[in-house]
Amino acid sequence: MSSAKTVGLEQMPDTIMTEVAKDFFFDGMLLPASVFIRMKPGNYLLIGKKGDKAAFSSLHSYHNEAAKFFVKNSEHSDLIVNVTQITSKLISQKNIPDTVKIKFVGNLSEEALNSISTSGVVSVAKIQRVAALIDQMAKNTEGFDKIMNLIRSMPENESKHATSTCIISLLLADEMDINLQQAREKVAMGALLHDVGLKFIPEKITSKQRHLWSPSELEAYEQHPIKGAEMLRDLKEVPYEVLLIIAEHHENAQGTGYPKKIRDVKISPLSKIVALADLFSELILIKREGKQYTADEAILYIEEVLGQPFNRPVFMALKNMINKKALADRSE
Ligand SMILES: [Fe+2]
Ligand SMILES: [Fe+2]
Repeated sequence: MSSAKTVGLEQMPDTIMTEVAKDFFFDGMLLPASVFIRMKPGNYLLIGKKGDKAAFSSLHSYHNEAAKFFVKNSEHSDLIVNVTQITSKLISQKNIPDTVKIKFVGNLSEEALNSISTSGVVSVAKIQRVAALIDQMAKNTEGFDKIMNLIRSMPENESKHATSTCIISLLLADEMDINLQQAREKVAMGALLHDVGLKFIPEKITSKQRHLWSPSELEAYEQHPIKGAEMLRDLKEVPYEVLLIIAEHHENAQGTGYPKKIRDVKISPLSKIVALADLFSELILIKREGKQYTADEAILYIEEVLGQPFNRPVFMALKNMINKKALADRSE
C-alpha cells in the first residue's frame, strides 16, 4: 500500500464532515478513515485515503495550527474505535511518554463529551470507555508531580477540565480505599460528565468573567448542575449515583454551595469526592493573576480563603495524597 500523499481537492457539503483531532494521527498508522483538511467551507483537501499509511508530518498544513482535520461522518466511528484501541495499547507501554498518552486520552475525552448531546446512548458507552482509559492512565502514573505534569500537558480543549477532574477524583477514590470497580466507574463517569449542563447556559454568560454577572445571570449559571442531570436522567445507561454527582458537584459540607445549598449528610458520598476534585482541578488549571496554582497553593486557597467548606475526610485524602506523593517523588 502506498503512503498517503496530497491527492486532490473535493467539494463536499460541510454537514457530511466531522472535525477530528490532529493528534489522533501519527506517521505510519494505517488510516481507518480518509482524512481531509478543510480549505474553505464546502471545500476539502484529501491528505490520506482510508487504508493508506499516514504520512502527515511532512505536510505543511499539518504544522499549521489553523488547519483543521476532518473525516466523513460515515467513517468517523471507525476512526474513534481504532484510536480507542490504539490508546488502550499505548497506555500500558512504558516506553511511550506520558505526554503522548494524555494527548490521545484528552482528545478521546473531548470527542466523547462533544457527541453526548447529539447521539445519546451510544455516547454513554464512549464516556465509559474514556473513563476506563483515564483510570488506566492514573494507575500507571506514579508520583503527584507527574500527575500534575500530565494534567497540565493535556490538549487545550473544552474537556480538559472534565478529564483532569476525572483523574483527581479517581486518585481520591484510591486514597479513600474505594476499590469497588462499580463505584470507581461511577466516580469516573460522574466526574467526566459533571459540567455537561453548561451546554444549556447561554454563551453570553459563560464567556463573561464571573464578577461581571448580574444576579439573574448568576442564578442561570447556578442551574447547570440540575440541567446536566435532567439531560441524562432518561438514559438507563447512566446510573443514579452519576446523576447525583452531576446535580451535587457544587454543593459542599457547610451548605454554602449551589443550587440546593444542601449540607454534608444530604450529599451523596461520591459527589463529595467529585466536588472537591472539581474545584482543585479548576485551581490548578485556570490562570489566576497570570499564574496557575501549584497543588500546595490550591490546598492553601481552599483552607485559608474558602475556609475549607468540603467534606473533611475527602479533603484530608487530598492533602495526604499530595504530601505522600510529593515525598515519594523526592525519594526517587
Ligand atoms: Fe460546574
Ligand atoms: Fe467543573
